[in-house]
Amino acid sequence: MQTPSERSRAPEFPPDSGSAHPRRRLGPSDLMFSPIGLGCWQFSRGRGIVGKYWGKLEETAMTDIVRECLAGGVNWFDTAEIYGSGQSEQSLARALDEIDIQPGQAHIATKWWPLLRTSASIAKTIELRCRALSGHPISLYQVHQPYSFSSVAAEMREMAKLAEDGRIGQIGVSNYSARQMRTADKTLRGYGLRLTSNQVKFSLLDRRIEHDGVLETAKELGVAIIAYSPLEQGLLTGKFHRRKELAAELQGPRKWMPSFRPDGLKRVEPLISRLEEIAEARGASVSQIALAWLLGAHGDTVFAIPGASRPEHARDNAGAMSVRLTADERAELSELSDRVRKRRA
Ligand SMILES: NC(=O)c1ccc[n+]([C@@H]2O[C@H](COP(=O)([O-])OP(=O)(O)OC[C@H]3O[C@@H](n4cnc5c(N)ncnc54)[C@H](OP(=O)(O)O)[C@@H]3O)[C@@H](O)[C@H]2O)c1
Repeated sequence: MQTPSERSRAPEFPPDSGSAHPRRRLGPSDLMFSPIGLGCWQFSRGRGIVGKYWGKLEETAMTDIVRECLAGGVNWFDTAEIYGSGQSEQSLARALDEIDIQPGQAHIATKWWPLLRTSASIAKTIELRCRALSGHPISLYQVHQPYSFSSVAAEMREMAKLAEDGRIGQIGVSNYSARQMRTADKTLRGYGLRLTSNQVKFSLLDRRIEHDGVLETAKELGVAIIAYSPLEQGLLTGKFHRRKELAAELQGPRKWMPSFRPDGLKRVEPLISRLEEIAEARGASVSQIALAWLLGAHGDTVFAIPGASRPEHARDNAGAMSVRLTADERAELSELSDRVRKRRA
């Protein structure tokens, strides 16, 4: 029987380009990812400081969420070491095994946690990641954020070694500035590799990357943008506007966030109302329109990883891949988002 580490040494992924579902190339790599991936922070099982953000999901719910994603054409899953100290990775692997998805049949993107560590921990902890993922290979390995005792270049050198050894597929980063992206890409080019992606916060209510050089640099370098919190943690689903009592019933940090308070909800109401009108005319959901805006706003550069706490969320969000907005709808939503964000500031 193969060990998890042997199982994971097979980054010869099946070509996804022949799939009937939408795929786009992930940055300069050969990976063909669905425009929507599943964010698996919610799979942390309520463990650890970061993992406690979301409530604890039952195993069956996580399996059903993964099943809905796959049925809806999603072929990749974003997780991280810090999501419950490996709990999210383990839950994801368990769900894939439960559905009989063999290693390499779905793509996994996970992340190394850099805070209070040096780049030496990248090599030291890779075995733990492989074990947590129970041998499902890592298609994309990301540095979770730029704060660490080591430099960006030192971290990229360690990541390059993992790629050269066939332990991981591609290399990505998260929460990196334009300058840090350039350093990462330059270092990797020294090894004949490229920076594949930068995972950053991006939604109709958070468009900072359009102004701080990150998006522009990503386009110039051919790096993919992976948009996290694409539904603003539920705000852009419209459910908190439709059912006002929901915000009061929230558990966890969202309960205290100004954007989920009555004034915060009121400020974004014009955008939600227009999303609702477009959704109704299209027979789609508000979430699908918000995600379709993201996926269409910048050619094929942007991917989105909405999280899900119920299987129906996963089904709904995967459905966004078949919604195409007209240029007029996109422009109108962009303009409304500008107005609403100015009111929020
Ligand atoms: N790299 C980073 O630093 C970083 C930071 C944050 C997140 N991420 C990644 O990005 C992923 C997504 O971000 P996120 O979880 O912060 O925010 P999000 O995807 O914007 O929101 C997820 C939450 O919204 C609600 N929801 C999602 N789809 C829905 C639907 N169709 N209908 C109704 N409600 C729906 C669910 O919460 P309720 O049911 O509880 O309302 C769900 O847990 C994470 O899972 C993680 O993988 C990365």
